[in-house]
Amino acid sequence: MSPIQQIYAREVLDARGIPTIECSLWLDDGRSVMTTVPSGTSTGKYEAKELRDNDPNRMVGRGVLKAVNNVNFILGPQLIGKDPTNQTDNDQLLVNLDGSRDKSKLGANAIIAVSQTILKAGALSSNLPLYKYIQQKYQLTNTLSIPNCVFNLIEGGKHGAENLDIQEFEIIPASHLNYPDALNMAVTIYTKLREVLIMKGAIHSTGLNGGYTPNLFNNTDAFEIIIETIKATPYTFAQDVFLGADMSASSFYENGKYILKDKSQPYSANELAKYYKSLKELYHVFYIEDAFQEDDVKAWKELTLDIGSTSMIVGDSLLVTSLEKTTKAIQDKLCNSVLVKPNQTGTVSETIQVIKLAKESGWQVIVSHRSGGTIDDFVVDLAVGTGAQYVKFGPPNRGERIAKYNRLSTIYSELQYDAQQVATAQQPEMPAQIQPTDLQTATPIQAELTQSIHINDVPNPLQQQISEITTDPMINSSPDLSQPTTVTTPDPNPIVNLEQSTITPVNVGQTAPNTNQPSVSTQMASVPQQQTTNQTQPIENSNQPVVLNPEGSVNITSPLENN
Ligand code: PGA
Ligand code: ZN
Repeated sequence: MSPIQQIYAREVLDARGIPTIECSLWLDDGRSVMTTVPSGTSTGKYEAKELRDNDPNRMVGRGVLKAVNNVNFILGPQLIGKDPTNQTDNDQLLVNLDGSRDKSKLGANAIIAVSQTILKAGALSSNLPLYKYIQQKYQLTNTLSIPNCVFNLIEGGKHGAENLDIQEFEIIPASHLNYPDALNMAVTIYTKLREVLIMKGAIHSTGLNGGYTPNLFNNTDAFEIIIETIKATPYTFAQDVFLGADMSASSFYENGKYILKDKSQPYSANELAKYYKSLKELYHVFYIEDAFQEDDVKAWKELTLDIGSTSMIVGDSLLVTSLEKTTKAIQDKLCNSVLVKPNQTGTVSETIQVIKLAKESGWQVIVSHRSGGTIDDFVVDLAVGTGAQYVKFGPPNRGERIAKYNRLSTIYSELQYDAQQVATAQQPEMPAQIQPTDLQTATPIQAELTQSIHINDVPNPLQQQISEITTDPMINSSPDLSQPTTVTTPDPNPIVNLEQSTITPVNVGQTAPNTNQPSVSTQMASVPQQQTTNQTQPIENSNQPVVLNPEGSVNITSPLENN
């Protein structure tokens, strides 16, 4: 292990031209990592809070120099000499240094920047690609595979040109397509959609994420036009590809009603639920994200009860990657899938806790970018390493989105190569002169081209769990939720310390720790570990979470474990 030598942050721009934080970390051995944090446009009201300068004379008030200073003068210096593979301890230190419930004091943008660099540094220090480090460290998946992609094609709401109310009109490939085929399909349909829009005389410029923002009459027209486009390609609608929507309903919610172009009168929550059912019946829309405003809990619950067995009801602004909110939503059956955005909660460890809980509870996990992204591909490795079933990275367009799809392509090649190596190792010994030369000399590229590897045969408890879900009679009309590209078996000798992240949020109203204290680590080390009894036990005791404020801890045991 090489300890942390220095952490340094600076202000850079995100894909919207709005400032964000780039953070570098140097290890004692001279090697370094860097990360950039994304930022949202349709930000949920319960998200951890970014710190912005609010100086109207600079960067239209959205500078992040205060947050950068917090990294350089408060957070970074406290981490010098620490082991980067102790993610939970390091994240707990960040949480405690901030001391506020919503990370508003030092800024969630400052904290997540440091937390992400620590994870990347841990991987570097362990000489592993980030996704393999995450898999070995947290053991949330037995096998590594490429998640299914939710591709956004048309944008409305806060991401669009005020033509449409729904924020994202999405296509989701069926899982019989492997990643290269799914990507090929998305690119084909995305490109054809432009032609169809031009043919119809519709506007075909793009929105915040690179999805089209056509001037259509209403939201339903967007679904119609996507289906028409699919039919003009070699793909079969509702067989190769299905539809989804991020409603981002808070953005069209006013005085208890939902205002959509599709109807002259505002919708009640009940009427909106009926609208969703009609979208499913007419257009096979089986993925609905942020169906209602985040406090309209009754509506969420009823929709999930009604169509949740056959549809993905996804909480984004509803859950804000919060362990507390996800725990409650699972107990109250508000939805059945969680959108995961690390910057919504502010540390990697808290993000991992949410993914773990969701998976243990049989939920689907969708790891997502933000509209204010950069070319950083951190979320790709996070998704693969935790065994998330889905990712959402926007349309196959624009540098910051393409960086993620290209990272998936790289990981796909590496997994194919690993599978090839496993297959070769399992070959019975043959005399050297008759060994097939192509296997002896396989390179990653050759391995990728080899079509004979059928890795779905690898037994995987998660897959079994998913296939149970797919046996529901109605889900058969939806995409197969199993994972398309399972490749490797777990490493029997993991070289990283196993860690189960158990971060304790700071209690509301408690006094924040004094950030001027010289030795926070000494202070934390004196806290007895049995004060964490409410929490899920880490896999390895050597990596117990440090808890400064046990009275502020929440019970993060999965509701399923209580049964
Ligand atoms: P964002 O929204 O603009 O807040 O990143 C993306 C989403 O709602 O999924
Ligand atoms: Zn969303």
